[in-house]
Amino acid sequence: MSFNTSKILPPDGKYVLVTGASSGLGRSCAFHLARVGFQVFAGVRTSAAGDELVGDDTTGRVTPVRLDVTDDESVAAAVKEITAAVGDTGLWALVNNAGVAVSAPLECVTPDRMRYQLDTNVIGQLRVTQSVLPLLRRSRGRIVNVTSGLGSVALPFLGAYAAAQFAKEAMSDVLRRELRQFGIQVSVVQPGAIMTPIWAKLSQGARSALDDLPEETVAPYSVAFGRFLELNEQGARDSTTRPEDFARTVVRALTSVSARTRYQVGKDARTLSVLRRALPDRALDRRLRPITQ
Ligand SMILES: NC(=O)c1ccc[n+]([C@@H]2O[C@H](COP(=O)([O-])OP(=O)(O)OC[C@H]3O[C@@H](n4cnc5c(N)ncnc54)[C@H](OP(=O)(O)O)[C@@H]3O)[C@@H](O)[C@H]2O)c1
Repeated sequence: MSFNTSKILPPDGKYVLVTGASSGLGRSCAFHLARVGFQVFAGVRTSAAGDELVGDDTTGRVTPVRLDVTDDESVAAAVKEITAAVGDTGLWALVNNAGVAVSAPLECVTPDRMRYQLDTNVIGQLRVTQSVLPLLRRSRGRIVNVTSGLGSVALPFLGAYAAAQFAKEAMSDVLRRELRQFGIQVSVVQPGAIMTPIWAKLSQGARSALDDLPEETVAPYSVAFGRFLELNEQGARDSTTRPEDFARTVVRALTSVSARTRYQVGKDARTLSVLRRALPDRALDRRLRPITQ
């Protein structure tokens, strides 16, 4: 890949940390960043996942780092390792990608499930961001926060996930405003549906979480929610957006001299972003009503 250096900052072996790189979008992104010339620290939770990444890496520029975003000690150990490797150069970018998706009618989301959602996608992201900011400051680097089309519009049966994405959107806006003075640019990347393991995990998690609840809590939703889960997975299977489209967008955010504040990946994410800005709440409610009926 060649770069027009008047508008693009060449990767030139700059260091990037991608969280949640064991599968799906993070994995594809880690490999793509390495292919275009970045040195990538790929966050994984197990050594087996790290070995697999190394085995599939054709560039020699992907280094797995054990990193559980919900665990203080794990984050501290990962940042220590990265600090030793990057030295005075600092870290060029953090891609906050790790995430889980809890799906259920909000009445059925237990506090523990909500905590799991927010701990991973929101507090975990903040923990990692805070820990690497000294390294990003050295390079006047970049943060890319991965949210979702559901960071624009909160869909029924995805209330916990949407709450996390809205929180990430808000944190991204604030970080962008607070970190500008240090020359650090912050972008949000909002993917639409892309077929990755997250969809099967979402359905599995939803079904087993509902099994633990009293029948009278679940019954009023069961038909519509069952249909929603099927359509949801089908939508991801039919999506023409690929993990590589996401990865290319992250490269744009990391290499543009002036990164955009938000990037959508896929037509569905762009549509949700437009709907959010164009439609009043009641009109949006009417469009989404069939999901719950
Ligand atoms: N795929 C889509 O359609 C889509 C659409 C919009 C937004 N997104 C967002 O894109 C991101 C990646 O999703 P994906 O589709 O690639 O899903 P995925 O294949 O399930 O990957 C999720 C990644 O996050 C990691 N992870 C989960 N909990 C973690 C923790 N506590 N600490 C560190 N890593 C953790 C997973 O690691 P393990 O393998 O160890 O569990 C995995 O590497 C998520 O933030 C998701 O919300 C995805």
